[in-house]
Amino acid sequence: MDRFIIRGGRPLHGEITIGGAKNAGLKLLVAGLLTSERLVLTNVPHIADIATMCALLTQHGLTVEAVNGDKTTLSVGGEITSTEAPYDIVSKMRASILVLGPLLARCREARVSLPGGCAIGTRPVDMHLKGLETLGAVITLENGYIHARAPEGLKGDRIVLPFASVGATENLMMAATLAKGRTEIVNAAREPEMADLASCLNAMGAKITGAGTGHIIIDGVEALHGTTHRIMSDRIECGTYACAAAITGGDLRLIGGQVEHLGAVVRAFEEAGVEVTQEGNAMRVRRTGALRGIDIMTEPYPGFPTDMQAQFMALLSVAEGASMITETIFENRFMHVPELNRMGARINVHGSSAIIRGVHSLSGAPVMATDLRASFSLILAGLAAHGETILSRVYHLDRGYEAVERKLAACGAQIERVSN
Ligand code: EPZ
Repeated sequence: MDRFIIRGGRPLHGEITIGGAKNAGLKLLVAGLLTSERLVLTNVPHIADIATMCALLTQHGLTVEAVNGDKTTLSVGGEITSTEAPYDIVSKMRASILVLGPLLARCREARVSLPGGCAIGTRPVDMHLKGLETLGAVITLENGYIHARAPEGLKGDRIVLPFASVGATENLMMAATLAKGRTEIVNAAREPEMADLASCLNAMGAKITGAGTGHIIIDGVEALHGTTHRIMSDRIECGTYACAAAITGGDLRLIGGQVEHLGAVVRAFEEAGVEVTQEGNAMRVRRTGALRGIDIMTEPYPGFPTDMQAQFMALLSVAEGASMITETIFENRFMHVPELNRMGARINVHGSSAIIRGVHSLSGAPVMATDLRASFSLILAGLAAHGETILSRVYHLDRGYEAVERKLAACGAQIERVSN
């Protein structure tokens, strides 16, 4: 298993190119199930979760291939030969559940393994299933698998989500594109990835309005056709490297970063004493003065994203004064706390809130990654710490971030990947 060795204390300066968004790209690949024609995606990030999704689609019968050998451009297409999503793939990546709606819409049946929980929470899929039942699916759970059938096809209806679930919104939006009649999703997720998915689906012939708002309307069509779509920039990767500039007292230009997609995060940066500006197609982040402690609560978009919580906790661990972070989205997303405390942070968890008392400096230590975003929070701490940090289980990081050590080293970080 690979490890990172980081020697901290050097401010980062320079440019980092932000890649395509993991949490848009995974679903855009799944959209390839909705048509027998070719869907071409550009700006595809080279990360493990994308490879896992390509493997899942391939076992459904689709052909997924790099165009002209360039892996940032993938073409997806072909006929579905299996409507089963097996446990060994689904258990590795929760986003696999998103094939359920498209398979049901196209093949009128699907057998998808229940994803099970993951490190950050139990992560049920009840809203996905209830929404599909509203569209006429008959769903039973047998031997750890979801059996869904819609022999007459799906029929549009009004779905009210009890929570603005990202995955449920995407699963239902995709299913509804081929349902008979109109579907409304009320209390839909408003993350920018919803609008990115809808714009691709509309280019494929779907009729979707309201994506990006809490009320999405989908008028079903007979069939969808192929298109070419550029995956939006990864706003969480952008916010993560912005934290690297902030925690090291550096100055970075994040190419492809868009301030508009990180509203609440930009406000939190500014409150903490970090300057963030949009300079053309780059987001510029620099810190000149001291970091100030602030309070954060994670919320569905446009609130502060839970996917930035661990990174901000590392940042605030070296701020002046105290901070409080309340995690309202997932029930177990503080696993980076004990590892940060081993580096000298002073963080106490009380239920869904963490109190952070800023310290003057952190000290390098051997630490262990537990999940994707926690992995990066430990890298951020290592970049600021005195001495050497060794981060193990880097496979968590490789699921969602591309070429981290290369991007950081190019801006002055002392970081190397060692394989053992
Ligand atoms: C997506 O997960 C993202 N993953 C997550 O990013 C992100 O943290 C999350 O949205 C929230 O923004 C991908 O896009 C692949 P949810 P998802 O459905 O769709 C509960 C990362 O680090 N819930 O909005 O699973 C659920 O348990 C990952 O990139 C139900 O109870 O998130 C959670 O507490 C981590 N029933 C909350 O809602 C359901 O049917 C938010 O879940 C569905 C969700």
